[in-house]
Amino acid sequence: MIDENDFEVYIQNIFDILNAYYSIDFSSYKLNCLQRRIKRRMIISKIDKVEEYLELISNDEKERSKLMDTITINVTRFFRDEKTYNYIYKNLLPKFTQKKDIKVWSAGCSSGEEPYSIAMLLDYYKTEKHLNYNYNIFATDIDSRSIDKGLSGVYTPKSIYNLSDIFHIIFNFYIKKQGNYYYIDENIMNSVHFEKNSIFSSNWEGKFDFIFCRNVFIYFSRELQNQALQIFRDHLKDDGYLVLGRVETIFFEKRNIFNIISNRDKIYSKKIKE
Ligand SMILES: C[S@@+](CC[C@H](N)C(=O)[O-])C[C@H]1O[C@@H](n2cnc3c(N)ncnc32)[C@H](O)[C@@H]1O
Repeated sequence: MIDENDFEVYIQNIFDILNAYYSIDFSSYKLNCLQRRIKRRMIISKIDKVEEYLELISNDEKERSKLMDTITINVTRFFRDEKTYNYIYKNLLPKFTQKKDIKVWSAGCSSGEEPYSIAMLLDYYKTEKHLNYNYNIFATDIDSRSIDKGLSGVYTPKSIYNLSDIFHIIFNFYIKKQGNYYYIDENIMNSVHFEKNSIFSSNWEGKFDFIFCRNVFIYFSRELQNQALQIFRDHLKDDGYLVLGRVETIFFEKRNIFNIISNRDKIYSKKIKE
């Protein structure tokens, strides 16, 4: 049996090790969420003393990296929550027809399915409406393995799980299938720029038309969510949109900096006067 009290004593040491090796400070992340994941790794490693597990991750690079993977679970897929993509296509992109450049930040992009979906959506709209804007998607995540997968542009059917016919058409338009693998079209790949980086150390020049930060807040304490929201507001153009995950929301203390555009799809615009 793992002793819960041990976590109180040693959890900061675990965070310190991860911070030393991966330069990510998890100490403001949601504690119970992290403990659950650390416990999962301890059970798999057949260790029931947190102190021993601490020792293991200090010395064993493989286990350290497995713990990091477990903590940053990066479940994702193409066009996750299609209704949200549909809403953007029908209601928001028509406002962008006069733009020359569209700039998007996918914050917490995981292995690339999200930024590639955005690029496909923007390209499909552009083609269908005979427009000629350029688009660039800046995709960041703290997990280097996810970033490497995104850079490879190669996916398996797992990443299009549950895709409807309509979105399958868009997806097929931009991939080549070989055997059991999907290869992303070169133009789409060139429009997505991956970078290993934390939301909290972003240093962008210029502002974005869209910021997607979906299914990332689940890890963050309320304080960290509010910090992230302030960063997003500072990096959003006045006519830009923030898109959160469907089960995520903006706490009342930050409602003074965003307007709700779609409550169902968790889409927000910037309040110009706070
Ligand atoms: C569940 S995935 C979500 C992927 C995608 N946005 C989606 O909705 O399908 C959450 C991702 O957030 C990343 N993440 C966690 N903390 C982060 C931070 N501070 N900065 C950037 N990415 C972060 C994790 O590494 C993970 O890949």
